[in-house]
Parts: sequence; structure tokens; C-alpha cells
Amino acid sequence: MIGIILGTRPEIIKMSPVIRECERRNLDYFILHSGQHYSYEMDRVFFEELDLPDPEYSLDVGSGTHAGQTAKIMTGVEDVLMKESPDIVLVQGDTNTVMAGALTASKLHVQVGHIEAGLRSFNRWMPEEINRVLTDHISDHLFAPTETARKNLLAEGIEDPKICMTGNTVVDAVYQNLDISKRKVNVLKDLDLEPREYFLVTAHRQENVDNRARLKGILKGLEGVQKEFALPVVFPVHPRTEKRIQELGIGVDGLNLTKPFGFLEFLQLESQAKLVLTDSGGVQEETCILGVPCATMRYDTERPETLAVGSNILVGTESRRILEGVRSATTWKSGWKNPYGDGIAGKMIVMVCAAARSR
Ligand code: UD1
Ligand code: UDP
Repeated sequence: MIGIILGTRPEIIKMSPVIRECERRNLDYFILHSGQHYSYEMDRVFFEELDLPDPEYSLDVGSGTHAGQTAKIMTGVEDVLMKESPDIVLVQGDTNTVMAGALTASKLHVQVGHIEAGLRSFNRWMPEEINRVLTDHISDHLFAPTETARKNLLAEGIEDPKICMTGNTVVDAVYQNLDISKRKVNVLKDLDLEPREYFLVTAHRQENVDNRARLKGILKGLEGVQKEFALPVVFPVHPRTEKRIQELGIGVDGLNLTKPFGFLEFLQLESQAKLVLTDSGGVQEETCILGVPCATMRYDTERPETLAVGSNILVGTESRRILEGVRSATTWKSGWKNPYGDGIAGKMIVMVCAAARSR
């Protein structure tokens, strides 16, 4: 039996190809949702749009401090794993849900498969970097998306036979849903946008939006982009960021702030944008796959493949640098190679898991 643990927006999206494959093969598996994300537009919408089965277990842990949230997830996961005794537990990415799920499983001697293993920003200020390193070192199967990720794992002493290069399940998710999105939604029309004549933005990293100077720099930079290009800047605001913008109490001029979109809507917006500005991990990958230039409002990235192929530029969080980066990236011609695989990661991962047996 396979236990799939997830809890946040990107985990639901990137785990969806794995869940679909378990369904297709009629495997014995269950979904355990930590409840780290719980607002409709951060959680339920993805189950509905991606047609995923409801989780068998929902821990409903909600938001909290890092330790508080991690502890609640661990206690809840422990109860479920003791009841179900799966052969293997799968986690995806670098959230608190991932680290808590992996640590609990490993203490119960349940095998752990880490999807998207080996990513490193080499910046321990990011909570995600700590989650990634810890999860990789207690996992039994490391599903590395790229050669760079594999090398990072080997450099930390992780044994080669534990590593399986699969590509990133985000490619599967994009390929599986792009056509569906074209058929089911017309978000450009709904928002009165023309293809390639708008910018799309996301920002939610703790080290960016919980830092007043950085958040102000980002908002000022976005206003600068809107003024210079005289094009709409569509910014679906993550709940963490919404809270911080309200606390900051400053007006945001000229930006088209909205609630977060469902994946089908967001994918369509990404694929038609002139350029995307973001601090998200998944969005750096998706723009690279879709052939859309990306300006990443950070100082480092655990997605160096996007810089190497020329789809992405690091622009930091100062308004002047953001504007300069956007000026440069809007002149790029797409046509770079997608470094994240050919969209069969989900199948490969499930093949390995289906053969896993309890220790
Ligand atoms: C988390 C992950 C981050 C991931 C992101 C995806 C960690 C440490 N962080 O960050 O790696 O990139 O999810 O989006 O695991 N909130 C709501 N509704 C929700 C969820 C959150 O209103 O459904 C608000 C709450 O005020 C909460 C805040 O957002 O305190 C932050 O949520 P949290 O899950 O702690 O971190 P994220 O910033 O979402
Ligand atoms: N996304 C979405 N709606 C939005 C913004 C993002 O569906 O309004 C999707 C996006 O396509 C990507 C994922 O959310 O697949 C990225 O999640 P997020 O940026 O929250 O987390 P990260 O990837 O940084 O961990």
C-alpha cells in the first residue's frame, strides 16, 4: 500500500499525476491531507479542477508557527501510519508537511519516497531549504528531477542506488492540464486581457513578504513595470501576502490584485503572459516549460536549470533591479529546452512504489 501525504497548493498540483497514475493502475493507496492549506482557493479548488479523489484522512492542522504546525502534522501522521501500515509513504517538495510526514514515517520504519529530491538554494534562511535537506537525508527513494539535483544529493553523501532520475511531475501536470484548461476556461476574456499584453505576478516567500523593505520594493517594482509598459499587471495574491499588504497599510497603485486562481485558470494566464514575475518555485519551472520569460524576485534559486537554459533571471527585490530585469527579459526569444523531463515522472515514481514492500 502507498500512502500519499500532501498539504499545500503546490503539493496537490505536483502530486496529481502520481494520484492519477495510482487510480489508473487501480493500486492500493490513500491520500493524507495535513490541512496546512485550507482556504478554498488554496486547496479544494485543485481537487475539483484536477478531478482528484477526496483524501481518506484530513488532519486539519491549519496555520501556526513552524514548530507548532510541524508537531501537529507529525502527531496526526503517526496515528494514520500506525493504523494503515503502508509499504511506502510519498511526499513531494519542501513544505512543513513534507518534512513532518517524512520524519514520522522514517521513525516508524516506513519507507519514504521524496519527489523533487535534491533541490538546493544553499540558503538556510529559507524554511524550505531546511525541510529539503532533512527530508532527503531520511528518505529511501530520492526522485530527483534533474542531473543537477542528483549531483547535489551525491555531494551530500547520499548513496547513488537510492536516487532515481524521473524528471519533475510538474511537466506531467502541465502537459495533462493545458488542453483541459483551453477547453474549460477562458480567463483572458473574463479579465479583458490580450495574449502577450499583460504581466502575471505571484509572491509569497516568507523571507520576501514578511520583510517590509522587500515587500515594499516588490510592490514599487511592479508599479514601475506597469507604468513603463502601460500593460495590466495581474497579481493573484497568496493569503500570506494579502495579510502582509494589509498590515503594511500602503496603497497599491495600478496593479490588478485578485484572489488566487485555480490551476486551469493560472496555467492559461501563465502560458499567454508577456512575462511572469514571481518568487515561487513551481512558477519558475512552469514558465520554463511553457516558453514564457520569468523574472524571479529572489537572490538565489533552487531551480538553476531555468537560469542555465535562459528562461529565468534573478532580479532580487529592489524596485530598480526588478524593472531593469523585466526590460531585459521581455526582449528574450523563447525556444529554450525544457530541462525538467518529458512528462512521465508520475508513471516512473508509481512504478518504483508499486514494487516497494514493508520492511
Ligand atoms: C507554504 C510553504 C511554502 C510553499 C507555500 C505554497 C512551508 C514552510 N511553507 O507557505 O514552502 O511554497 O506553502 O503556497 O511549509 N493561509 C490562509 N489560507 C490557507 C493557507 C494559509 O489564509 O489556506 C495564510 C495564514 O495566514 C497563514 C499564512 O497564509 O498563516 C501562511 O501559510 P503557511 O502554510 O504557514 O505558509 P505559506 O506561506 O503558505
Ligand atoms: N498557482 C495557482 N494559482 C495561483 C498561483 C499559483 O494554481 O493563483 C499554481 C502554479 O501554477 C504552481 C503552484 O501554484 O503550480 C505554485 O505554488 P506556490 O507558488 O504557492 O508554491 P511554490 O511552488 O513556491 O512552493
